[in-house]
Amino acid sequence: MEVVIVKDLHEACQKVYEVFEKQLNQKKDSVLGLATGSSPIDLYAMLCASSLDFSKVVTFNLDEYFGLDKAHPQSYRYFMDHHLFDHINISKENIHIPSGIGDIQKVCDDYNELLKQYPIDLQLLGMGSNGHVGFNEPGTPFDSVTHYIALKQSTIEDNARLFFNGNIDEVPKNAITMGISNILSAKKIVLIACGPKKHKAIQRLLNGEISEDLPVSALVSHPDFTLYLDEAAYYGK
Ligand code: GLP
Repeated sequence: MEVVIVKDLHEACQKVYEVFEKQLNQKKDSVLGLATGSSPIDLYAMLCASSLDFSKVVTFNLDEYFGLDKAHPQSYRYFMDHHLFDHINISKENIHIPSGIGDIQKVCDDYNELLKQYPIDLQLLGMGSNGHVGFNEPGTPFDSVTHYIALKQSTIEDNARLFFNGNIDEVPKNAITMGISNILSAKKIVLIACGPKKHKAIQRLLNGEISEDLPVSALVSHPDFTLYLDEAAYYGK
C-alpha cells in the first residue's frame, strides 16, 4: 500500500486525475471502476474539462441504492450522468451500474458475469467514515462478490447529511454493491479519503488493523493500491 498525503480534497483529486490521464493515454479501451459520493466530484469535473478520449472506455460503478430508479435524482446513476457521463464522449452501452430495481439476485449475478468478462484496469474508491468501500459495510466477507446489503445506521446518517437534503427518511436502507473480491480483482486501485470524519478509520488502517470490521483493510493485500489522504484525514483536524 502506498500512502500519499496532500493538502486537501482538491489536490487529492488532481493527483488521481493524473493517474486516470496516464491510464487512458496508455490504454484507450481501459475498463474503469467508478465511485460516487462527494470525494470524486472534483475529479469528475477535471475529467469532463479534459480532452481525454472515452470513446472506447468501459465503466463499472461500485453500487446503487436499492429501490431508486435511475431517473431518481439521488440514484447513483443520476449522479454519474450529471457529474460525468453526460459531459464526456463515452458510449452509453459501455456504462454499467447495478440496477436499483428489479430481481435483486439476477441484477447481482449479471453484474458478476460482466465483471468477469471485463476485468477492471483502474478502480477508484472513496471510503465511508466506518471504513466501508462501495457499500461493503463492516462485517462483509473479504471474498464477497456483488450482493444486496443492509446499510448501517451511521452510513444512512452520513449520506443523509451530504445528499438527500438531510432527510434521513428518504435514504434507502438497502443497496446493491460490488463485493470486496470484485474490487480486489482490479489491476490498480486508488482511494480518496479526505476530511476529519475519515480519520478514525484511516488511523485503524495505518495502525495495521486487518479485519472484516474494517472493510477498507482488505485492500492492504492488493499489489497496486494507493491511498490519497488529506491532512485532516491523516491528522484528524
Ligand atoms: C457512499 C458510497 C461510497 C463512498 C462513500 C463516501 O457510501 N457508497 O462508495 O465512498 O459514500 O462518500 P463521500 O465521498 O461523500 O465521503
